[in-house]
Amino acid sequence: MPDPDEPRRSAKPQRFQAPIGTRDLLSPESERRRALVDRFAEHAALAGYRHLVTPMFEDLGVFTRLGAATDVVTKEMYDFTDKGGRRMALRPELTASVCRAFTEHNPAVLPWKVWYSGPQFRHEKPQKGRYRQFDQVGVEALGSEDPDLDTESIALAWRFFDDLGLRRVRLLVNSLGEAAERARYVEALADYLARHTDALSDAAVATLARNPLRVLDSKRPEDGYVIAGAPQLSDFLGVASVTHFERVLAGLDSLGIDAEVSPKLVRGLDYYRRTTFEFTAESLDASQNAVGGGGRYDGLVEALGGKPTAGVGFALGVDRTLLACDAEGVFGPVERTVECFVVDTTGGLTGYEITEALRRAGVATDRSWAGELTDEGLGRPRSMKAQMKAADRSGANLAVLVGPDELEVGAATIRRLRAGPDQAPSAQRRVPLSRVVSEVQTELGR
Ligand code: HAM
Repeated sequence: MPDPDEPRRSAKPQRFQAPIGTRDLLSPESERRRALVDRFAEHAALAGYRHLVTPMFEDLGVFTRLGAATDVVTKEMYDFTDKGGRRMALRPELTASVCRAFTEHNPAVLPWKVWYSGPQFRHEKPQKGRYRQFDQVGVEALGSEDPDLDTESIALAWRFFDDLGLRRVRLLVNSLGEAAERARYVEALADYLARHTDALSDAAVATLARNPLRVLDSKRPEDGYVIAGAPQLSDFLGVASVTHFERVLAGLDSLGIDAEVSPKLVRGLDYYRRTTFEFTAESLDASQNAVGGGGRYDGLVEALGGKPTAGVGFALGVDRTLLACDAEGVFGPVERTVECFVVDTTGGLTGYEITEALRRAGVATDRSWAGELTDEGLGRPRSMKAQMKAADRSGANLAVLVGPDELEVGAATIRRLRAGPDQAPSAQRRVPLSRVVSEVQTELGR
């Protein structure tokens, strides 16, 4: 194997591809993604959440607080030592960053309600719907234990999915109890599983050693039999946890949100206390159907050196949400095109001036560009035919044509490329240069 860091001897420059597990997103997909984030921002603002932007990398310690039994921390972290010798990591999720920011800025008004969007990084085995760089949108509310805040969080995500047009998203909810209750349960579960290792898959036995709760996530049938007889978390919850959970369920019910209580829902991050929830898209394969999840993490701010502070929120996977939209045929990509295309066969600057004037007036405009420079300077302008082809390909409804004849009389021709409300395609008229912008606007119905 050649050393990738050795200079290559071949004269041909090396060609690169996007790193494994990452993708370039081209238009219109990239624009659809932006539209989804914009839509999410509206929903978050409607519920009083303010935008928060945090760095894409943090001190490694911010994320190791997520728990030593969390795959995201132990196996999947993009950690590195920077040039100053600091241990850093690309963020694998945003909840820890939000808690770090909360501790750093100590906001006066509680609960501190923020929303965010952006890329996360996890060194996972890539497959459809599972990437090493993926986008999330999410919200967090810090500083209140009110169970209605859990409901608000879930309702926000639910409304958002509904607004996108998704009809086949399920909501699973569970309560993991307080830290001590959860710890007692994990002990009982580990005890039970240890007595049944013979019947468990090898993978489950390995998981048991690291994080017994995660065994409950196993989809293998042999594990299913063992799991079915495992102790139930609900039997370990104290009165306060039960009351909290019942209030959340009552809140969801009052909003008409269809929540399924799933006693085995444990989720992959260790920080959850009390409420946890997950949204699954029925339209996607089980391996990538978790389109979002969240819950309470009342001990996390403290673990990051802050005052004891309650917190609740969720993150949705943008990539998977869009896959679910594809599967349900909703929130499709919108092909964006320019409205007007300027064709200039004179080789002068008039075409360019018109282009810029139209843009200043808010008309999305492009033009044809010359091919190559020759020794004599600018090459000849491309032929009318070639430029009209480019105009057609641009998707514009209108073309503005400037040829020597037009230029001589200080005019341009506006030609319709696609049928308008009252106009046939190829209808055209000549207008003075000074009126091109206003005539184009009129043609576009402005
Ligand atoms: P999470 O369940 O790890 O939770 O991630 C949330 C969502 O991000 C998942 O449901 C999934 O849609 C998406 N996701 C996760 N990993 C990948 C991947 N490799 N490729 C594509 N999409 C992925 C969290 O991150 C928590 N911070 C959520 C939260 C917020 N809890 C409380 N507040």
